[in-house]
Amino acid sequence: MNRFKDGGQVDKNTLSNKPECSSLKVLGTAYAGSGDFVHLYLEPPLWEFSPGQFVMLRPESWGLDPLWPRPFSICEKTAEYMRIFIQVVGRGTRLLSLCDPGSTINVTGPLGRGFRVPEGPLLILAGGMGIAPFLGLCKNHPYPQKISMLFGHRLALKHYPFEESPGEMHKESMHQVSEDDLKTFAQVLGERIRDFAPKGEILACGPMPFLKVVQKYALACKASVQISVETRMACGVGACLGCVVKTNEEEMVQSCLYGPVFAADKIVL
Ligand SMILES: Cc1cc2nc3c(=O)[nH]c(=O)nc-3n(C[C@H](O)[C@H](O)[C@H](O)COP(=O)(O)OP(=O)(O)OC[C@H]3O[C@@H](n4cnc5c(N)ncnc54)[C@H](O)[C@@H]3O)c2cc1C
Ligand code: FES
Repeated sequence: MNRFKDGGQVDKNTLSNKPECSSLKVLGTAYAGSGDFVHLYLEPPLWEFSPGQFVMLRPESWGLDPLWPRPFSICEKTAEYMRIFIQVVGRGTRLLSLCDPGSTINVTGPLGRGFRVPEGPLLILAGGMGIAPFLGLCKNHPYPQKISMLFGHRLALKHYPFEESPGEMHKESMHQVSEDDLKTFAQVLGERIRDFAPKGEILACGPMPFLKVVQKYALACKASVQISVETRMACGVGACLGCVVKTNEEEMVQSCLYGPVFAADKIVL
């Protein structure tokens, strides 16, 4: 049986628009709180995207090293720029954070499937860098007053673009520095999901332990939850099979093609 064939019970109605490869100029970078968090501004590509879709970035200056491009959520796109929000965790992200204005980055996108965003009530659950795909969504949503966001973070709030989202939204941030804080955050996540489940759609993005907690409560409350999984990706286009996740039908599917956004009840984390 071909276990990679079609995404099993994973939603296939929101196929991604066709990705393109473009060479985009770096317009500038801006540090957020420290040199390890950087907003990268690129020339805007010609294509449109859905929140939750991502791009593969590879500066021309890399030559053959690093070999593989790196995946990043598209934070927002305006007539003037496309913004990517990067946390430096290794060599690729460090080199990206140091790109000079005027240098060129090879960008493949938009990739994957983004969030289905209803106009009705929306609860956003973001953990750390999981805030990145929600920035443009919140800014462009026609009814920001219908959005609530719970944001959990281990580092100081100044590193994240939390305050940029519209003032009409209901926003709550939780700083977790100790194990006790983490337990409290997990409890608060559970309460928010339980209370919000009958009202609308829940969108989540963040590190795997965070997503597991979200999924646990989503299933327990039968809440409608979409989660974005950020598995490691090498090609971003379905070829290397490095990013597979297991569906609830026991099939392995590429998260770069059939995700990164999945219904919480369709995959095994
Ligand atoms: C769909 C998607 C969207 C993403 N969006 C963003 C974003 O908006 N902003 C951002 O800063 N990062 C994002 N990431 C993560 C980002 O791609 C990685 O941090 C980056 O590729 C690391 O490259 P590096 O060369 O600096 O680190 P490497 O040298 O490759 O790795 C350094 C360390 O980071 C860990 N790591 C690498 N990739 C991941 C990953 N995907 N998940 C967890 N740990 C990882 C490695 O295990 C290692 O410990 C996203 C990833 C995916 C798949
Ligand atoms: S990253 Fe290569 S198949 Fe998904």
